[in-house]
Amino acid sequence: MMGVRHLIGINRLTHEQLFGQIIPACIEMIPRAKKARPGRRQPHKKAVFYFDEDSTRTRGSFVEAAELLGWRYIVETLACSSRNKKESWADTLHTWVNYNANVVCARTNQEGVPLWLAEVASRDGLPVAIINAGDGRNQHPTQTILDLVTIQQRLGRLDNFKIGFVGDLLKSRTAHSLLDALSMRKGISVVCVSPENVKLPRHYAGLFDNFQEGTDMELLADCHAINVVRWQAERIPKDSAEFREFLRVKDVYQINRPRLDRLKPGVIVIHALPIDEGVEEITDDIKDDPRVVIREQAWHGLPSRMTELEMSFANRQTFEPLSPVSDAQVREILNLSLQEGLERQRGKSHDHFVPLADGTVVDKLPADSGYIIKMMLRRTEGFSHGINVVESEEHNKDILVIKGRRLSEEAMIRVASLAPDATFNVMGNRFQKFRVEQTIRVITGVGICLNMACITRSGEPGIQSRFINTGSKEQPFACDYCNQHFTLSEILPPVA
Ligand code: NCD
Repeated sequence: MMGVRHLIGINRLTHEQLFGQIIPACIEMIPRAKKARPGRRQPHKKAVFYFDEDSTRTRGSFVEAAELLGWRYIVETLACSSRNKKESWADTLHTWVNYNANVVCARTNQEGVPLWLAEVASRDGLPVAIINAGDGRNQHPTQTILDLVTIQQRLGRLDNFKIGFVGDLLKSRTAHSLLDALSMRKGISVVCVSPENVKLPRHYAGLFDNFQEGTDMELLADCHAINVVRWQAERIPKDSAEFREFLRVKDVYQINRPRLDRLKPGVIVIHALPIDEGVEEITDDIKDDPRVVIREQAWHGLPSRMTELEMSFANRQTFEPLSPVSDAQVREILNLSLQEGLERQRGKSHDHFVPLADGTVVDKLPADSGYIIKMMLRRTEGFSHGINVVESEEHNKDILVIKGRRLSEEAMIRVASLAPDATFNVMGNRFQKFRVEQTIRVITGVGICLNMACITRSGEPGIQSRFINTGSKEQPFACDYCNQHFTLSEILPPVA
C-alpha cells in the first residue's frame, strides 16, 4: 500500500501523499464503512488509542474503525496510564510495542509528541507507526483529512473556492492543519474572522496569495465553505484577561439562522465539533439545516480512520525521513597567504575592525545578533573569552572577532543557520575565507522553544530543541516539534 507510515502533521505531507493517495483512499473506503459490519478478524494488527485530552468523535471513530477492520486495540487515557506516574514517552512507547502494538494514535496536551514518538521508533528500531490524534494547539491531521473528504464530497472540488475560518484561530489545531492542507491547493482564498487576541498565527498569511483577516462576520458573505472552530477555553486560565475577553465577545462570532441566511447560496458550514453548549458557535436551531454538514463530516471520521489505520500498518516498517535535513556545505571562497590576506583586509577595514593575525573574524552578521551568537558559541564551543562583538552601524551589521581560535565546520554551520550571510575569515598559516551554502537550515540542540507546552520543554530524556530557519523576515525560526515561530532573540536570549 502506498501512503505514509506516520501521520504527524499535515505540514509534513507532500501534495502527492495527501491529495494523490490518502484522500482518494478515504473516499474509496466510504462504501465499506457504510456497511458497518466487522470484516475478517485480523488479530496480528493491534492499535493503541492514547488520549490525555478529552475526545468523543476522534476516539469513537478510531475505535469503531478498528472494530470494522477486525483489529485488536486498547484505549488508554491519562488517568489509567503510567504517563500519570511520569513515565517518559520513550518508555511508554516501548511498552506498547512490547505488547505487539503496530499503530499508536495519540492525543496529547503537549505539542510535538507525535514527532518525538516517531523519532524514538526510528532511533530504537520499533516497527510501529504513529498517528497524531491532536497535539495541543499544534496539528490535527486526521481531522483535516475528514474535513477535506467532506469538502470534496459536498463542493465537488478541493481547488478554486473561498473558505472562511471563524473563532479562536490562535489555538485551534484543526484550523492550523486544514490551512496547511489548503495552502497546497490552487485558487484558494482564505478569510479569517476572529477577535484580535486570538488571531491566526502570523506565518499562515504568507501561505496564501489571497488572504484576508478581520473581526467582522460580514467578511464571510461570499465564502463557499465556512469552518467554525470551538473556543479553546480549556487552554486559558479562567482568571485571565483572555478568558474575560472570550466571555465578552463569544456571541459575536456565532453562526445563527439570520447569519446563515445571509451567506452565499450553496455554502457549506463545517465544524470539527464539539460545539460548546454555553457558546453555541453554531446555534441549535440550524444543526439540521442542509447547509450545516457537521454530522456527515463527523461520520467521515470512520472511513478516513479506517484508511489511516490500514495505511500506517502497511508502512509500519518503512523508512521515512521525519524532519528536514540540513544540506549545509562549508565552501572555501578565498585562500591567500596570510600577508596577502591581511593586506586585502586592511585596505577595506574600518577604524574599529582590526584584523587578527591568528583567529577567526565572523563577518556579515545581522545587526544586533552579534551578542546572541557570541553567547551561543560560548555555550556550544566552550569559548570563554577572547570573543569581541563589533557593531558596524555604518554597514548595519555585526562582526565577531575571535582571538586565537578557528571555528569548527559544525560551528560555522550553526552560525550560518542563524545568520545565512555570515562569512568566516580564518587567519593562521594562511588567510582563508569560508561561506556556508545551504537551502535547508536546521538548528539542532541550540536555542529554547518559548512554548511551555512544547515537548522540548517537558524534561523528556534525550530530546533536543530543533528549529528550522524559514528565511521569513518577521519570525524566521520555527520549532520543528510544535511549529510555533520565533525571532532569533526569542530562541537565543542574550544572557550569560
Ligand atoms: C477537535 C479537537 O479536539 O481538536 N475535535 C475533534 O477532534 N473532533 C476540535 C475541538 O475540540 O475544538
